[in-house]
Amino acid sequence: MEIGILGTGMVGQNIGAKLFWLGHNVMIGTRDVSKTMARTDPDMYGNPPFSEWIKQNSKIKMGSFAEAAAHGELIINATTGLVSMEALKLVGKENLDGKILMDIANPLDFSKGTPPFLSICNTDSLGEQIQRAFPKVRVVKTLNTVNAMVMVNPKKLKGADHSIFLSGNDAGAKCTVKELLKSMGWKDIIDLGDITTARGTEMILPIWIRLYGVFESPVFNVKVVR
Ligand SMILES: NC(=O)c1ccc[n+]([C@@H]2O[C@H](COP(=O)([O-])OP(=O)(O)OC[C@H]3O[C@@H](n4cnc5c(N)ncnc54)[C@H](OP(=O)(O)O)[C@@H]3O)[C@@H](O)[C@H]2O)c1
Repeated sequence: MEIGILGTGMVGQNIGAKLFWLGHNVMIGTRDVSKTMARTDPDMYGNPPFSEWIKQNSKIKMGSFAEAAAHGELIINATTGLVSMEALKLVGKENLDGKILMDIANPLDFSKGTPPFLSICNTDSLGEQIQRAFPKVRVVKTLNTVNAMVMVNPKKLKGADHSIFLSGNDAGAKCTVKELLKSMGWKDIIDLGDITTARGTEMILPIWIRLYGVFESPVFNVKVVR
């Protein structure tokens, strides 16, 4: 599949490498290619700059947000949740309409320090805001409840049957995303319903952040036991 990824952070890199490895034709998008390639400092977690990563993954294409979205029949939103709407405006409706948009972003606001709070919650979600702003895009919220390393390798955790969620209005789009998740190793994929159910999965983040504090590691997930 042709896949366009919006976002050069940990999520964009991990999911880009995994999907390329699975045989997809991947393009990763950024605001400004030359500025992103000119960054030489490690990121806030001490990871090497994006320019190093793309050198090691040289078969993955790189372009602007709009070019990555134009490339993809399926587009992944892996931008900072607080500014995802700005990033999607840079992409433009013409590159989004009719396509599947897998939304992984979380609307976390760090402006008052840590732990961050959700800038959207309870009666709305980022997934819904994106769907309302781009009504012809087929938004599927998923993977936002796990760390990037777990996202692309659920088997990293003992017992691969821990849970991942899907929210979206379009049954066909959810079916495509579900197959993609299965190919990545996910087994317990729970379809919660329409895009309003993204409120629930985005609101997992406050407890996720507290668990991260307790375990001092982001490598964990929830398992829904029936
Ligand atoms: N890290 C994880 O393990 C994890 C797990 C689950 C969900 N998430 C969610 O996934 C998303 C990506 O997380 P991340 O850690 O990979 O990276 P991130 O640092 O949150 O996001 C990086 C991307 O956001 C873009 N961006 C930043 N400010 C922007 C602005 N003002 N306008 C437009 N674009 C802007 C950057 O563009 P440039 O490329 O131009 O710099 C970059 O591509 C977030 O919403 C996060 O909450 C993260």
